[in-house]
Amino acid sequence: MTQSSPSLRRRLLLFVALPLCAVLVCGAALTYGLALFYANRVYDRWLLDSAHALGQLVNSDAGRNELSDQARILLQYDPYDRVVFAVRSARYGLLAGDRALPQPRATRPSSQPLYSNFRADTTSMRMVSVMLANQDDPDDTLVISTAESVNKRHLLARELLGATIPIELILLLVAMLLVWGGVNHGLRVLDPLTREIRQRDAGDLSPLRASDVPREVQPLVATIDALFARMERMLAQQQRFIADAAHQLRTPLAGLRLQAERALADPSPETVREALAHVERLSTGTARAAGQLLALARAQAPDRALGEAAPLDLAELVRDEVAARVPAALAQKADLGYSGPSHGVSVSGNATLLRELLGNLIDNALRYGRRDGVVTVSLQPGEDGQALLAVSDDGEGVPEALRPRLGERFFRVDGNRRDGSGLGLAIVREIAERHDATLDFGSGPEDRGLRVEVRFPAAAA
Ligand SMILES: Nc1ncnc2c1ncn2[C@@H]1O[C@H](COP(=O)(O)OP(=O)(O)OP(=O)(O)O)[C@@H](O)[C@H]1O
Ligand SMILES: [Mg+2]
Repeated sequence: MTQSSPSLRRRLLLFVALPLCAVLVCGAALTYGLALFYANRVYDRWLLDSAHALGQLVNSDAGRNELSDQARILLQYDPYDRVVFAVRSARYGLLAGDRALPQPRATRPSSQPLYSNFRADTTSMRMVSVMLANQDDPDDTLVISTAESVNKRHLLARELLGATIPIELILLLVAMLLVWGGVNHGLRVLDPLTREIRQRDAGDLSPLRASDVPREVQPLVATIDALFARMERMLAQQQRFIADAAHQLRTPLAGLRLQAERALADPSPETVREALAHVERLSTGTARAAGQLLALARAQAPDRALGEAAPLDLAELVRDEVAARVPAALAQKADLGYSGPSHGVSVSGNATLLRELLGNLIDNALRYGRRDGVVTVSLQPGEDGQALLAVSDDGEGVPEALRPRLGERFFRVDGNRRDGSGLGLAIVREIAERHDATLDFGSGPEDRGLRVEVRFPAAAA
């Protein structure tokens, strides 16, 4: 594994840690708000108590005159906050205290205190006012206000916050440790699968035993199994190819050795000439077989090796291929012709493979058809975009019972007197399948010879 490959563990942790940190920040804000709320409740109560005490004092005999200095000091003593008060009469105006204190709106005696916030200079202040009846004048109302700055309240909220943050940090750390442990434990469920793959021998491509693999990993296991299955098919194909190649070479090599021994045993010119003629025939056949084997391997090559299928004009391709085979047809006095449009039949595929397919069909028709016979290659575009390619001859054909076997590797009709490796139609079948085309064998014109039909599907737009 490279240094830069992403770590699942780190990713999972990050996914959990970042939201947890955000939660911690929100939690701290919430804690501060809550602490401030309760600090306000407690100190509001105190503020109200001092307003009531001041009211009592003003309405008592002692307070009728001016407030004493002692009472003033007691009222205003506070080491953290600035405390101010005002006693106002609805009828006579300010009786004592600070004129700058804002005046509350209500001026009737009431059991409900009035709380308000205001700013004095740059200081935030909290004020409570109580409305009492003036005992000296039944028609008058006394409004007693006490106010203080809010330093104590914020201090208390900050202290509470300072006490809870370490606790929250410890909880966060514990949560991260639990997540780390959980992730490690969760990832361990992959260990048996890793072990199984590591312990396999190179040739074992059977499906993974993944019954205890978690549901989330099952798609990965299914993909690996599918890859194994494809590799198994490819390996089998390769092994078959090697076996086929060995089989194809063994017989002609034995023949070559026999001819060489024959020529060495009897070096008379006639025997040597005869042996050389055999050698020539055998080596031509072997070269043809090797060529056919390679063509079959090409037809079976993975898509990647062949490149993407591309739209091509089948009519042009067929016309060219037929023209290229005319000299071979003339050599055996056969009449090779093409019937169909000269262009404009679109199929999607690989031109080299399609030439190979057609080449093999024409080669068979010329080889197994009648001498001086007629070989016709026809192409019919269908209405629904399909295309029907057919090659027919007027030779002996293949008995109907044997036609299903055409396309099997090395299948040759008994009594066939022409040379061949028995791979041509296997190549044709392979290429047709690659192009999603269907292959059919029937009789040629007037029920003579063989007609091979390849039906191509409509090319994708
Ligand atoms: N047009 C045809 N008419 C009669 N028999 C045919 C025709 N085409 C194929 N056959 C029969 O089918 C057999 C298989 O053909 P195929 O092309 O696969 O192999 P081949 O021609 O023997 O060898 P090669 O690999 O060289 O083409 C032939 O041997 C032949 O017996
Ligand atoms: Mg052939």
